[in-house]
Amino acid sequence: MTTLAAIAPDVLQRAGVAYVHYLSFMLCFGALVLERRLIKANPSKQEATLMVITDVVYGMAALALLVSGILRVLYFGQGSAFYTENPLFWWKVGIYLAVGGLSLYPTVTYILWAIPLRKGELPQVSEALAKRLGWILNIELVGFAAIPLMATLMARGVGLPAA
Ligand code: HEM
Repeated sequence: MTTLAAIAPDVLQRAGVAYVHYLSFMLCFGALVLERRLIKANPSKQEATLMVITDVVYGMAALALLVSGILRVLYFGQGSAFYTENPLFWWKVGIYLAVGGLSLYPTVTYILWAIPLRKGELPQVSEALAKRLGWILNIELVGFAAIPLMATLMARGVGLPAA
């Protein structure tokens, strides 16, 4: 078996950044699924607090996903041109940004909940708001599920213009 010391440092670095990319992807998806399960009208203090926490985890993981992705493009992948010349890469980035934009609505909503929660009060969550947040989370989950397909194709050069 190969010992860790026998692996070239640049290979380890590339594997490490790729690992952060996958781990943050899993955390994002997990947090979104949990948030989707938790969302409901008139939550208890505990439920509302948990929703706020899952959204914070989601936000931090989404940032790590973005940073590790950019690092892979710039330093730890197959060269930046390999990606930037591929429309599938831009679809991937575009879907990520669209999902990120969509998640602003739930995030701002939760930030507003933090105010009454800190005073020990319950946030006012109507059926309509819970339903709207649920739908936004559904769309985000579909977007997140579509991104790895762009990634696996793009990583194999599918979509690159013929040389
Ligand atoms: C704007 C943000 C992102 C950038 C710049 C980015 C960039 C990259 C790069 C450069 C690779 C390496 C491809 C290769 O091996 O040559 C990669 C792989 C991958 N990315 Fe991202 N990524 C981003 C967001 C995401 C998101 C949001 C997801 C998941 C929802 C994701 C999932 C993956 C997967 C699964 C792979 C592995 C593809 C494979 O090796 O088959 N990425 N990404």
